[in-house]
Amino acid sequence: MSENKLANKKVVIIGGTAGIGLAAAVAASEAGAIVWAAGRTEANLEKARSVANGRFQVVQADTHDAAALEAVFREAGPIDHLVSAAIGGERTLKPFLEQTEEQFKAAYDKLWGYAKVVRTAAPFLAEQASITLVSGSPARKIKPSQSALSCVGASVENLARCLAVEMAPIRVNIVSPGTISTSMFDWMGEEKAEKLKAMTAGHLIKRPGTSEEVAEGILFVMQNGFVTGTTVDVDGGRILS
Ligand SMILES: NC(=O)c1ccc[n+]([C@@H]2O[C@H](COP(=O)([O-])OP(=O)(O)OC[C@H]3O[C@@H](n4cnc5c(N)ncnc54)[C@H](OP(=O)(O)O)[C@@H]3O)[C@@H](O)[C@H]2O)c1
Repeated sequence: MSENKLANKKVVIIGGTAGIGLAAAVAASEAGAIVWAAGRTEANLEKARSVANGRFQVVQADTHDAAALEAVFREAGPIDHLVSAAIGGERTLKPFLEQTEEQFKAAYDKLWGYAKVVRTAAPFLAEQASITLVSGSPARKIKPSQSALSCVGASVENLARCLAVEMAPIRVNIVSPGTISTSMFDWMGEEKAEKLKAMTAGHLIKRPGTSEEVAEGILFVMQNGFVTGTTVDVDGGRILS
């Protein structure tokens, strides 16, 4: 039987109260880790508490609020595995020239949030810790109307590579989801399933992915002690489609 590398490891997931982050919290806790899952809104915190059902802690923290982040990290530290899966910024889907400067800048709130998460967590990380940042396939798959997502995604990926070099032996990796059926698309209402099906019809795997599939990628980079500075695409082949 293979060694359970997550048993009793301390895992903190910022953006862990819905979608991909919540699925990673569930998977890590099922693998024996001691997990803290954080998010902002009471609605998601409540849903996450009901999913956790006492198996892991659900706490309030915003990627832009250093004091709230520090309180979580101080309680959890020394942290073995830190994940940021928060959305954290605006997702404006418009051609670049049709976006206001403010809309374009607001996409970068995701990067500033992730930077704050890493900076604030640093004193509370274990010596052999891992950090996993979630980007997204637009970072390397260029499509019209996605410049805001593409630019911030690419910045998140480059930040992770810079951190991998500067923070070694702490490992820093990226997991890049394709089109995943999560609450990020709830604004589509009743048409969500149909629209996601249409959006993925041209991908190599012709369906949206699940949060659990992306969580598997997150757990892979957490657990493999020889993986750092890399990007794991969990995207059904979207960047090749
Ligand atoms: N789903 C996709 O197709 C897809 C594709 C590419 C990339 N991604 C990326 O994957 C990551 C996870 O997205 P998801 O699809 O799982 O979205 P989701 O289902 O909406 O979950 C996002 C989580 O992040 C939390 N969050 C958002 N802003 C936050 C902030 N400022 N501080 C702390 N927590 C925050 C949310 O809770 P609160 O809102 O309550 O804070 C929630 O727990 C994001 O980085 C997203 O950009 C997703």
